[in-house]
This record gives sequence, structure tokens and C-alpha cells, in this order.
Amino acid sequence: LHKINFKVKYVMESNAQYRRNFLKFLLASPLIGYAGITQASNASELDPDLQFILDLKKELISSPDDALNIFDLEAVARETLPPAHYGYIATGVGDERSQIANRQGYKNIRLKARRMVDVRNIDTSVTLFGRRWASPLAIAPTGSQRAYHVQGELAVARAAKEKGKLMMLSNITSNSVEDVNEARGEPVWFQLYARDHWDSNLKIIERAEHAGCPVLILTVDMVGDSYRETQDIFIRQDDRDCSACHGEVRSSYRGRPMFDGIDLDAHLAAGERLEWDLVKKIKDSTDMKLIIKGITHPLDAKLCVKHGVDGIIVSNHGGRSQADSRGTIEILPEIIKAIDGKIPVMVDGGIRRGSDIFKALALGATAVDIGRPYLWGLGAFGQAGVERVLDILDAEFKVVMQQMGVTSIDQIKTSSLALPWGFGQG
Ligand code: FNR
Repeated sequence: LHKINFKVKYVMESNAQYRRNFLKFLLASPLIGYAGITQASNASELDPDLQFILDLKKELISSPDDALNIFDLEAVARETLPPAHYGYIATGVGDERSQIANRQGYKNIRLKARRMVDVRNIDTSVTLFGRRWASPLAIAPTGSQRAYHVQGELAVARAAKEKGKLMMLSNITSNSVEDVNEARGEPVWFQLYARDHWDSNLKIIERAEHAGCPVLILTVDMVGDSYRETQDIFIRQDDRDCSACHGEVRSSYRGRPMFDGIDLDAHLAAGERLEWDLVKKIKDSTDMKLIIKGITHPLDAKLCVKHGVDGIIVSNHGGRSQADSRGTIEILPEIIKAIDGKIPVMVDGGIRRGSDIFKALALGATAVDIGRPYLWGLGAFGQAGVERVLDILDAEFKVVMQQMGVTSIDQIKTSSLALPWGFGQG
């Protein structure tokens, strides 16, 4: 009886302690919705005897080598960066349901391992447009990287060079495409937000092509406004005078090198008009391959093929563009079915573990991209932090391949996944 009493008391106390911690966490976190859902789902999954694992207090790391996982770098970035800049990385739209769905989608899939396979030699390489990459992990385009480290995109490019990574560069880059290509040691893939101002679109496209970029990525999921509430909460916590860098009127475009020589006012005033005729215009104006980023509907995927697009990135912009998106990993199977092997499909959004990479490939992706994780590395430790993020995810992926009993990418099949009921059914 004494033992049972003790056990009940222990469980009640640990629950109470958990609730206290959880409440503290919620109050401290601007991502109230996000924190609520992830913590609550952990709590319901976890046997109370294992609660201490969630309660483990981790120290902030002081060197990238000390990172056990990529979240260790996130913690340093959150502590180091100005709140408004960290908030810009963290934010999605509204109450973060799309961002949560991206993560939850991966968590809902379990892996079915095969045994008795010799997994001493693992080949993680993939081929995209005839170019071989040592792993399927690529760097998604994100703008304004000098907000996180003085070297910005140059640090990311140097890390990409060191680790042999495919890097995609945003047109909102704070370093010019020419300088980034030099730092990367080979031309990057260039991403464009087109506006209804063909002259300026064309100038940017021609400049990227002239710099040697082999692939142009047209991002199509950012039309109109988005309500980034999380970012606004962080901005309110930031009492610095930001006008020295941002000017009186904040704009992501002003002062960005890719807009040198472009009539920025006319470009911005034109607004977005993204329709399929733009694809033809772009294809007629450049020899670069064209990828469309931000596809979430199979009918659009089919239209991409119809309009001669060379590849697709399934993306909801990391939950930053549209409210209430499904997780991109849930969307992926529909797109793969619609594309029917005609062009390569990549996916991004919520990839945080090597097992997530495995799941995306098992559902048909040729490669995967990360956004926030390498920005955490950049904000925490510059180039070395980005390298550490890439190393951790690649190492985790390789280990998962071994655990799953596969030795090369072509052996990764959907049969390795236990999918939740109704998964990928639209
Ligand atoms: C982005 N993303 C993005 N996409 C794009 O096409 N052009 C851009 O300039 C940016 N900028 C940008 C800034 C920041 C701070 C973030 C977090 C994201 C979206 C990005 O390419 C990618 O789709 C997501 O980041 C992937 O989701 P995760 O990995 O961040 O969850």
C-alpha cells in the first residue's frame, strides 16, 4: 500500500510539476498555439515515468560541436539574435497551424525497419538534373541573412561549399548573387519572387543567368498579405531603434543588391500577378531550368508539367504563407501521383530530423530542403553553425537508413512507413 501511495503521489506530483512547467513555458512563449500543441501531445504520449526526459534542463551550448541535435542551435540563436530578427525566423502565419501541421505530419508517421541486412556501407547520394549530390539535403532560399550574422549568405555559401550542398539563394539576398557564387565555389540555384513588372523580373533573371546559375526557382505561394502574428509579438519585445538599418518604412527589398539598377518603386507598386502565362515568359527568356516552389495542390502539379516546368518544390513556405495548410509531407503523395515521375519533386517544411528526410524520400521526394534549421545555425555560430546543422541532419539520416536496413536511396520505399489512417487522401 505504501508503495502504491508513493507511486500515485509521484505521478500526481510529476503531473503537477509538469503542468507548472508547461504553464510557465506557455506564458514565456510567443508561440502559444505551437507550444501548446507540441507539449500537450508529448504529454499524452509519454508515460509519466518518462516525464523526466522532457523536464531535463539543457544548458545553452557554447560551441557548435557541443550540439546534440539541431534544436541546441535553435536555443542559442533565440538567445543571441535581436528578438525581432529571431521572430522573423520563427514566425508562420496566424496561430501557426500550418507550421504545426508541417511538424506533426512527420511525427505521425512511424518507421518499419527490416533486419539482417549488411548496412556497413551507406550511399546517401542523389542526382538532380544530371548533377550528383552526396546527400538529399539541400538549403532552401531564405532572404536577408545578414539579419542573423554579419556574413549572411556568404557564411551559408561557405558552409554549403564545405559540405558539398545544393544551395538555393533568395532574390531578397543581402549579398549579391555574384559574391555568393564565388563563396560557394559554384553557382547556386536562384529564387525569384516575380511581380507584375516584367522589365524588373527580366533584369533579375538575366543577372542570375549571367552569374552562371543553372536553375531558377519561381516561388508562387506568397501572394497578397500574410498575418505574421508571432513576428509581431517578437517585434513588440524589441526596443531597439531599427531605422538605421531598415529606414523609416520597413521593406525587405530596399537596399538589396539584386535590386541595384531596378526601379524598385515601380517593381513593388506593380504587385503580384502570378498566372501560367508567366511561366512561358520566363521559359522563353532563359536557358536556366525552371522550378516552381510552393505547389500544394495536385491540379497545379499537373499544370506545372503541362507548362514545361522542370521541377517542383512542395512547400507552404514553412507555414509562412497560407493559413491552415496541411503538412507538406501529407501533401507530397498527391503531388507525386499527379507528377507520375515526369519531373523531380522536392519538399520542404518542418524537416528537423534525419528520420524526416527518410520519410520524405520514402513518399517519393527526390530531395528535401531546410529553411529555419540552417538559419538557427547561422544565427548561433555563423558558418560553423550552419555546417553543424548540415552535419547533424546528414548523420541522423545515415543512421536511420542503417536502422531501416537500406543502403542506397533507391532502396527507400513507402513500404518502410506506417502511415496514419487517411494519410495523403486529400
Ligand atoms: C523563408 N522562405 C523563403 N522562401 C522563398 O522562396 N524565398 C525567400 O526569400 C524566403 N525567405 C524565408 C525567410 C525565412 C526567415 C524563412 C524561415 C523562410 C521559405 C523557405 O524557403 C522554406 O520554404 C521554408 O523555410 C521551409 O520550412 P522550414 O524548414 O523552415 O520549416
